[in-house]
Amino acid sequence: MSPDFDAVDIIRTKRDRGTLSGEQIDWTIDAYTRGTIADEQMSALNMAILLNGMSRPEISRWTTAMISSGERMDFPSLGKATVDKHSTGGVGDKITLPLAPLVAVYGVAVPQLSGRGLGHTGGTLDKLESIPGWQASLSNEQMMSQLSDVGAVICAAGSGLAPADKKLYALRDVTGTVESIPLIASSIMSKKIAEGTGSLVLDVKVGSGAFMKDEESARELAETMVALGQDAGVKTVALMTNMETPLGLTAGNAIEVEESVQVLAGEGPEDVVELTVRLAEEMLAAAGVPDADPAAALKDGRAMDVWRRMIAAQGGDPDAQLPVARESETIYAPADGVLVGLDALSVGVAAWRLGAGRARKEDQVQAGAGVRMHAKPGAVVRSGEPLMTMLTDDASRFDRAREALADAVVIAAEGARPAQRLIIDRIA
Ligand code: URA
Repeated sequence: MSPDFDAVDIIRTKRDRGTLSGEQIDWTIDAYTRGTIADEQMSALNMAILLNGMSRPEISRWTTAMISSGERMDFPSLGKATVDKHSTGGVGDKITLPLAPLVAVYGVAVPQLSGRGLGHTGGTLDKLESIPGWQASLSNEQMMSQLSDVGAVICAAGSGLAPADKKLYALRDVTGTVESIPLIASSIMSKKIAEGTGSLVLDVKVGSGAFMKDEESARELAETMVALGQDAGVKTVALMTNMETPLGLTAGNAIEVEESVQVLAGEGPEDVVELTVRLAEEMLAAAGVPDADPAAALKDGRAMDVWRRMIAAQGGDPDAQLPVARESETIYAPADGVLVGLDALSVGVAAWRLGAGRARKEDQVQAGAGVRMHAKPGAVVRSGEPLMTMLTDDASRFDRAREALADAVVIAAEGARPAQRLIIDRIA
């Protein structure tokens, strides 16, 4: 049992750029989870951490203390290697949907615990819930049996996993303290380590639609998370990938499922296919299957077969018609030229205002809402051609969504080509 400390001393230490001892950190996380440290004290400490940072040993201890706040899952009885992917969140990021069944084709188990969207980035569970009948909540026994039979499961994290993070994240969300590298790294890695995966591939997004707007901070986040994973015995690799522009041609819920199914049918937008295949290669290599050809498993229907079984195992009907928004409004190109910019944040905010996302945890999302894009950066466009279509069940939402999109598009003289690298770097 840790000795008792004084919360105010701990806040002062971080405020004055000092270093917290391991015992102080253990006590802080435990006392906050039990309610002994008040929200206002934890808010002050979070802000001191955001402003003054934490050393690597402090981040490591903070992460371990958050893991210890709840249960730890593990999968040795499965008799298969396990691998998971985590994205730091972006616009149009539907990659988990085709990726989990694709990796499972190779006999590797993919326990993908996912979240709902908050703010402008979408949530994997919200997308899948647009499939009629599909259920996000599974017991640990149901999860194990699906991993054994189908090989892939995408479901909600149970309340017993890193409860300290659930409380801390909710507090950070309303106190302007989300964007701190030590707090993001420990939040993500505590859940992933507690989930018990054998290896982990991180997709750290960089750009306007991501938490990390510049490469330097994304690299620091990636390096911190890779080190936390390795220290905990989880083989961890990170890709840094572009989020200046949305992934694929859709940002929403049902429309992203539709695009994922296209990828599983061997079609779909080039960037979604490229990132899905690259992440699958990384996951399979980490899980001990280095020579797989995941592009082939998309083309020949093997990944689609696993997808259909994965959806059906959670009550969903893979053949059901997906919900369609009642109202639509199209935005047209104002001039001839080359589309050199399509801003991810603007599209994410527009999709959210159309009803695809939620402002508060309790809000419902609209399954059919979102933004469908008709051109990607690099495309030659003609004045009057459709650029984007806004979709919603409630036409009164169009004005605010159109405002968000007002400066989203940059068209330059013909000949100009945007410099966009999808995969920026790999950190291992
Ligand atoms: N996702 C998380 O799980 N935690 C954070 O702090 C940020 C993104």
